[in-house]
Amino acid sequence: MFKYLKLSSPGKIILCGEHSVVYGKKALACSINLRTNLKAEYSNSSLFSLKLNDINKSIELNQTQFESIQNESIENDFDKIIEYLNFKKSDDKHFDSIKFLILALDQLTWEKLSGLDVQIESEIPLASGLGSSASFSVCLATLFLLLTSSINPKLSQNDLVIINKYAFYLEKLFHGKPSGIDNSVSTYGNFVLFEKGSVVDKFESSLDLNVLITNSGVPKQTLEQVKKVRNLYERNKEILDHLMNSIDTLVGKFVVLLKQESSIEKSILLNDLITLNQGLLYSLQVSNREINSIVNLANEFGFHTKITGAGGGGCCITLLNGEKTSQRVTQLISKLKDNNFMPFQTKLGTGGVCIEKFEF
Ligand code: PMV
Repeated sequence: MFKYLKLSSPGKIILCGEHSVVYGKKALACSINLRTNLKAEYSNSSLFSLKLNDINKSIELNQTQFESIQNESIENDFDKIIEYLNFKKSDDKHFDSIKFLILALDQLTWEKLSGLDVQIESEIPLASGLGSSASFSVCLATLFLLLTSSINPKLSQNDLVIINKYAFYLEKLFHGKPSGIDNSVSTYGNFVLFEKGSVVDKFESSLDLNVLITNSGVPKQTLEQVKKVRNLYERNKEILDHLMNSIDTLVGKFVVLLKQESSIEKSILLNDLITLNQGLLYSLQVSNREINSIVNLANEFGFHTKITGAGGGGCCITLLNGEKTSQRVTQLISKLKDNNFMPFQTKLGTGGVCIEKFEF
């Protein structure tokens, strides 16, 4: 077993296909170069401790508590464990995540946890649709799977499948019925195509894709927006079916472009797709005043922007087409800040979960 461990996993954005994915179409998501970092080290203490530095929270567990969790008699079926933990209605989802892993991993003994100090820090803004909880879930699942030797520190493709499965269940604790996009991107990294609850393609792109992510300052509202689109759909099914199909076609074109070599013509096409997708999301009524304002400000400087995620608030992405420090980009950033938005630049399509140090 390790003496010192360092691992990390990325946050995500949805590039295109949000909402239509709920209607069985494809969605394309990718990692961003903001990560959650986990460090674990054994000390002389007789406790297991987990510190969540960003939210100033600490969880400690002693042997008696560990054993009483292990003795809670629930069927060893992941869905049953989640049902049981949700039934208990605790609002400490981080602690519930540890409980889930203790209950789900039969091989876990107190010797593996005793004296283990874990620290988690995240560069991903919390609760903004950028996959912070999924990234936490992937890091924690990876730690526990390493502790029980269920995966190898070299992380084979099969190990990633196992991590993704456990992280998906932890996401169920945080979000009830997650789609699985966030944990898949955080596990595999790069670009992930998702359809009907499954990853249907994973790929890297040779494009240097830099974007500006701008937080609208309005909290994202996934459940409300999904419900709102559902109501609109029920009232206008014959129109919205076309709209969802258009988004699906657009996602397909996006994938083709990302897999090709870079060219000037391609930047134009990617910009087209971003703007078309935003127009379709606007028609679905998930844009709002703040988002429209970000879209228009970026447009004044010649950049194309769309909602990323559910909308009604949350974040937007602006394609920078290879420009990172140009005058236009700098001017746009200061203009957005003048309007009380919070933009930051990030690179798309970085690596997934990664063991950075595993020292014996
Ligand atoms: O911003 P997020 O991660 O909440 O994205 C939600 C994406 C939706 O398509 C609107 C809902 C879903 O479950 O896929």
